[in-house]
Amino acid sequence: MSDIEKTEFQIPGGLPPRTRDSVVDAQEQRGETDVEVSLRPRSLDEFIGQPKVRSQLDLVLTGAKNRGVAPDHILLSGPPGLGKTTMAMIVAQELGASLRMTSGPALERAGDLAAMLSNLIEGDVLFIDEIHRIARPAEEMLYMAMEDFRIDVIVGKGPGATSIPLEIAPFTLVGATTRSGMLTGPLRDRFGFVAQMEFYNDEDLTKVVTRAASILGVSIDADAASEIASRSRGTPRIANRLLRRVRDFAEVHSDGHIDLGAAKAALIVFDVDEIGLDRLDRAVLNALIRGHGGGPVGLNTLAVAVGEEPSTVEEVCEPFLVRAGLIARTARGRVATASAWQHIGLEPPADAIGGYQTLL
Ligand SMILES: Nc1ncnc2c1ncn2[C@@H]1O[C@H](COP(=O)(O)OP(=O)(O)OP(=O)(O)O)[C@@H](O)[C@H]1O
Ligand SMILES: [Mg+2]
Repeated sequence: MSDIEKTEFQIPGGLPPRTRDSVVDAQEQRGETDVEVSLRPRSLDEFIGQPKVRSQLDLVLTGAKNRGVAPDHILLSGPPGLGKTTMAMIVAQELGASLRMTSGPALERAGDLAAMLSNLIEGDVLFIDEIHRIARPAEEMLYMAMEDFRIDVIVGKGPGATSIPLEIAPFTLVGATTRSGMLTGPLRDRFGFVAQMEFYNDEDLTKVVTRAASILGVSIDADAASEIASRSRGTPRIANRLLRRVRDFAEVHSDGHIDLGAAKAALIVFDVDEIGLDRLDRAVLNALIRGHGGGPVGLNTLAVAVGEEPSTVEEVCEPFLVRAGLIARTARGRVATASAWQHIGLEPPADAIGGYQTLL
């Protein structure tokens, strides 16, 4: 797994990668790799939630196995922390195939990909993470490899350059992307199966927490597991991280058993509220509502009010606040919904946006 590059969210245009240093960040954080590996489900049966993706994949894989051929190429699409890498490993496992891993940013030149492809043996699963970030020349080579299991390797430069055709062993490509909209049409069209991973409901996340607790040897009450689940923003990675923080708290403050009281007390210490907002999320809501009467407020004004870069507010806080039905983006600026007013303990004004109940 050493050749898989840690992919961090990067803004188009080349600003430095940024991750949010918060316990409710959906991206993998430094030092988490080992524990994540130990918590990954290893088979489709063990994989919790995503019933649609699971049953469709089951059909694709079983069909291919029965026919004795490599299955269609598979694209796993969805936000960070929902189980794309986990699912890619399960695909290889279910097929009894070996998994080769790389990532879009690691395939800068076509030659990088050619080396990878020419080393495949029949039936291998090639996993390309963050596939939307693959460089164009490599992408074009990938089209041909996916379709015809052959590539043209260009040797030399200028007028003397020659193209040498190379056969590739039939393989299955599994691509993962957090930004399917950035995939080019031709690449997307070459996947026979596209799985859209969805956010998890609280019931499934409770199972994720309970399962992780048993692997980590932590004793936890059912209501405490469901409390952690409901603050995890629909994301198993966050659920697992909150569980570990709560475990730390319970070990320091008692015998390590996690009951509802310990879970709630720990989550207060880590600044995660009842629906999974952290301090910055709440600062944005407060600035919008207490500072600006609920909006509309421009992004820059909001960012100054909370002392953050506009891009941080826009890309780190807003996606979840919008998904949770707490703020709306309008042409005139950001507006707090009725639910947002209620969430910070205020009566919403009569004209507040409908406040459709939180989606969580
Ligand atoms: N269905 C699930 N059941 C149990 N644990 C899960 C499930 N899905 C994900 N996890 C856990 O969540 C963590 C993150 O999963 P994974 O690395 O597969 O996410 P990802 O979608 O690849 O994220 P990224 O976009 O950041 O690469 C892993 O530790 C994994 O064990
Ligand atoms: Mg991943």
